[in-house]
This record gives sequence, C-alpha cells and structure tokens, in this order.
Amino acid sequence: MTFSVQLVSGVAADIGADALIVGVFAGAVADSDALLALEDALGGGLLSHLKASEFDGKLEQQADVPTFGRVKARRLLIVGLGPKADSDAARVRGALAGAVRSAQSSTTKSLALVLPEPAPPLRAVGEAIVLGAYKFSRYFTGERKPKAELSKVSVVVSGKVTADQKKQLELGVAIGQAVGIARDAVNEPPNELYPETLAEVARGIAKEHGFKVKVLDKKAILAAGMLLHYAVGQGSTNEPRFIHLSYVPKKKKKKVVFVGKGLTFDSGGLCIKPAAGMGEMKSDMAGAAAVLGLMAAVGITKPDIELHVLVGAAENMPDGSAYRPADVFGSLDGKTVEIINTDAEGRLVLADALAYAVALKPDVIVDAATLTGAALVALGKTCSAFYATDDKLATMLEGAARDAGESFWRMPLLEELSEQLKSDVADLKHTGDRWGGSITAALFLREFVGKVPWVHCDIAGPVLAERARGMYPKGGTGHAVLTFLNFVERLAAG
Ligand code: BES
Ligand code: MN
Ligand code: ZN
Repeated sequence: MTFSVQLVSGVAADIGADALIVGVFAGAVADSDALLALEDALGGGLLSHLKASEFDGKLEQQADVPTFGRVKARRLLIVGLGPKADSDAARVRGALAGAVRSAQSSTTKSLALVLPEPAPPLRAVGEAIVLGAYKFSRYFTGERKPKAELSKVSVVVSGKVTADQKKQLELGVAIGQAVGIARDAVNEPPNELYPETLAEVARGIAKEHGFKVKVLDKKAILAAGMLLHYAVGQGSTNEPRFIHLSYVPKKKKKKVVFVGKGLTFDSGGLCIKPAAGMGEMKSDMAGAAAVLGLMAAVGITKPDIELHVLVGAAENMPDGSAYRPADVFGSLDGKTVEIINTDAEGRLVLADALAYAVALKPDVIVDAATLTGAALVALGKTCSAFYATDDKLATMLEGAARDAGESFWRMPLLEELSEQLKSDVADLKHTGDRWGGSITAALFLREFVGKVPWVHCDIAGPVLAERARGMYPKGGTGHAVLTFLNFVERLAAG
C-alpha cells in the first residue's frame, strides 16, 4: 500500500476525487448534510433517486450515483452505516471497507470519504480504508495489471479536525496494513512462500519494529527436540523452520504467547488429499499469518504486554523420506505420539510449538490454526471455532471478536472424546474418529499446554473467502488479526 490518508474538514460537494463515498446512517437520508449539499450541487434529483432505488442507509447498502460533471467528484457512492443509535466500530468498519472496495476501479487514483456526524471512531475508519482498498496484484502483467494505483484518500468530517482524530486515523491505517501482511502471506503461492520465506516475513517485521527474532532450521529443530515438527517437515525439500518473535516492553502486565500453524502447503503427505481443492492448502499457514500480522500491529500499538509469537512452519509432502502412518515419534514435551493419518499434520507441529510456549512460562497461550475440515462442517466458512480452558479468557476472546467484527464461536472440550486418543503403542494417538474431529484435535493439543490457561482457535473456515464480504476481500482475509489485537488490548487493560 502506497497511498496517503489524510483527515480534512470540508463540504462534500467541493471535494475533488475520482470517487466520493458518503456514509449515511439508517433513516437519515433526508437529514444528511452531505446529501443535502450534493442534492443542491447536482441541481436536484439525488434524493428522489435514492428513494426510487430504496436506499435508506441500511447497513452495507450501497447506491452508485453518476455526477455528470456537476460536482468535482467523478463518481458518487452512498453507503449505509446502519442505525445511528447502535452504530459500533465493527459495523462501520465493514460497511466502509465494502464501499471503498466498490468505489475502486482499475483507474481510481483518489478517493474521498465523507463521514456523518457524530463521526464514527476514526481508528475503525482508517482500518476500513486500508482493508477495503486491499488488492493482491503482484503477479499480474500486461492488461491484468491495474492501470492506476490509488495514491490519495481523504477522510472528510464536517466539524473541526482534532489531533486525536488524526492520530486514531493513522493508527487505523497502520493496523490495516498489519492485516494486509497476513492477507499477502495467505495469497502468496506456495512455490514463493515456503518455510524459509515465511521466516523472511517474520524477520522483516522484527526489523521494522525492533523485535527479537530467532529462527530454527531443520537441524536446529531436531536438536531442540521438536521431533513432531521435524517429522511433518521431513518429506519436503522446502525444509521446516521454527520462528520465535518477541516483544518485551519495559512495562509488562502479562506475558502472552501466540502460536500459529505455518503449513505453507498441505498436500496431506502420504495420506494425500484429493486433487480438487488441494490448491486451497496454500492457506494452511493462515494461523501463522494471523499471529505475524498481530505482531506487526503490536509494533504500532505497543501495549504493556510481553508478547511472544511462535510459528511452526513446514511443508507437508509425500516423498520417500516422508513420515508415515504407524510411525511413533517423541515430542518436545516428552510424550510419544503414534501417527494415524499424515494429513493431521497441523496438530503435530503445534504440539511442539505449544510445549515450547509452556517453557516460556506465560500467563496465557493462544494458538491459531487451520486445523480441521470438521470446524468448517460445524460452523461454516465464515466462523472460527475456539476452545478455552479458562472461562474468563473465553469471554475476553468473544468480546475481542465482537469489536473486531469477526466471527468466533466457543466449542466444548468434551472429555468423553479423550479416550479416542489412546494408543496401543505410544502415549497418544494423534487423531480420533471422524465425528467431533475439531474437538479431538483440540483435546490432542491440550495435552501439550500443561497448566497454562489456553485458547485454541480453529480458523480453517474464514481465512480464505470465495467472495468479498464486508471488510474481507476474496482470497486471504487476514481473519483473526484484529480479534487478537483487541484481545491483547483487553489483557493489557486488566
Ligand atoms: N489443513 C487441514 C485442515 C483444513 C481442511 C483446513 C479444509 C482448511 C480447509 C488439516 O491439516 C487436515 O488435513 N485435517 C484433517 C484431519 C484428519 C485427517 C483427522 C481433516 O480435517 O480432514
Ligand atoms: Mn492436513
Ligand atoms: Zn493442514
């Protein structure tokens, strides 16, 4: 993203931009100052057009209006922000991001966004702009390459612009860019994004924000005793990496570890997946992307929380040296594990990363993983399943997700399913039967978190979208970054 975002005080009709977006609260069409001014400037017809097209400011409703050269802006897009009374950051973020996405064409260089009074939280507005303008176009050439780049976005309020509003808007823009890091990583093809290049992304974030970064290569993973992680990576010429980023501020109210599943490609290994849809498994590092995006965001918001981000990166491939069903491996925690299905690789990589997390003696561990198809079956493609060993943390995550406008639903750690993980030859089997597959995966992971309060997020559904919706574009969505950022802020607030 290279465009600049500025906050100005002004009148909609006077603003020159390729597209002018006007936000309107529900039922407030007739008393929107911006719309009344535009009605005047256009020489009438706007309000009756909106009425005829049944636009009344409902959340995410959009009306595209030509300007026929009567105002400076070339195109006018009116967007509904929903009821003024219960207007919240999450809804405004989704509606404005959707509008920014619709307003952009391949020739759009400038956008202006006119906000109603009272102005919605400017941080959410900044996030919405960057999230809505997001494009992944680096592999397009010739005709497919965008003809123009968006270079300037103006946010227009009618009242006086305050220094705090400016700061909030800038903060939102930077947070939106952090989400963009997660989206990019998911969208990158797996021949470009493999464990070492994922480590490069982490090093880049560390360099930018002054974090400590440690990367273990294949040999070091083995030497450290992360034998499950090693096993998953042993069938690929793209060797595994373990990534540890840390942010240690002077004032720290809590120590938190976030762990991300970083399977840069999951073919299933010897238990190979069917060809149809296998390409989607380039997104099997979306948990890693989410925690790296979080780290980039934390570099900006700088909370009073000691934060460690761990990523278990590997590629799951079939090969003469690949791990197999019936193999037994030790783990960093010491427990032995019998392999049942090589396609259940995520929980193996995570098990070692969680044991590593426990050794850091944190107050809380959170992990994010595209772990099971069963989570998709249970909750669909828009909602993440989460599990928690602590009710307070669960409530905190629910609140954080609500503010982020992201969908998370708590699932139970059903004790009666635990017996499915008993093995005849090792301490644990690593999969249960088909039913309750997201739950047995969570129960397996729980074996590796000791007594540390823990939240596990099975984000297999919402990280990759088939179509754009609200703040999410098609493709990599950056799901969970905003929720995790809010979660960290809530922990910092006590
Ligand atoms: N990465 C997949 C889970 C997944 C499936 C994510 C679909 C996104 C969309 C994971 O590694 C996997 O293959 N899980 C298996 C586990 C099974 C073999 C116990 C699954 O869910 O089928
Ligand atoms: Mn798999
Ligand atoms: Zn996987």
